[in-house]
Amino acid sequence: IWHSNMEVEQSYIMIKPDGVQRGLVGEIISRFEKKGFLLKGLKLFQCSKDLAQEHYKDLKDKPFFPTLIEYITSGPVVCMAWEGDGVVASARKLIGATNPLQAEPGTIRGDLAVQTGRNVVHGSDSPDNGKREIALWFKEGELCQWESVQTPWLV
Ligand code: TYD
Repeated sequence: IWHSNMEVEQSYIMIKPDGVQRGLVGEIISRFEKKGFLLKGLKLFQCSKDLAQEHYKDLKDKPFFPTLIEYITSGPVVCMAWEGDGVVASARKLIGATNPLQAEPGTIRGDLAVQTGRNVVHGSDSPDNGKREIALWFKEGELCQWESVQTPWLV
C-alpha cells in the first residue's frame, strides 16, 4: 500500500452517483473549496463492485450492504482527496448526519438530500481511514503536490 502524504491530514471525499446524476458536483466541490481546504486529487470514476466492497468492508455484515454496493456502483462517482489540519472532522460537519432528514440545514446532506440510501456524498470517518481510502481510490501519481497561494494583504 502506498501513502499519499504521511504528515498532513487528508480526507477522502466522494460524490456518490446520485450527486453526479443530479448535477450537484459543482455545488458540493465548492463547499470544500470555500471552506479553505486544499484539493489534492480529483477524478470522475466508475468503480467496480470489488472496490466498493473493499471501501465499505466494515459494513459488510449490515443488511443494507448489498443495496449500498449496488448504489455506489450504479454510475460514476467523483473521487476527491482534500487536505488540511482537521479536515476529516470538519468535512464530516460540512457533510452532515448520515440520514439527510436528521442532517442540519446548511450541511450538504441537510440541504440537498432526503434519503439515507441516496445521501449524495461520502467523507472519511477518521484520519487513518482518510489515508486508507485515498490509497484505495487513487493510484500513485494521481495526486498533485501544490500549495494554494493567498495574497497576504492581511498578516
Ligand atoms: P455510515 O458509514 O454509517 O455513514 P456515513 O456515510 O455518514 O459515514 O454508512 C455508510 C453509508 O451506508 C451511508 O452513507 C449510507 C448507507 N447506509 C444505508 O444505506 N442505510 C443505513 O441504515 C446506514 C446506517 C447507512
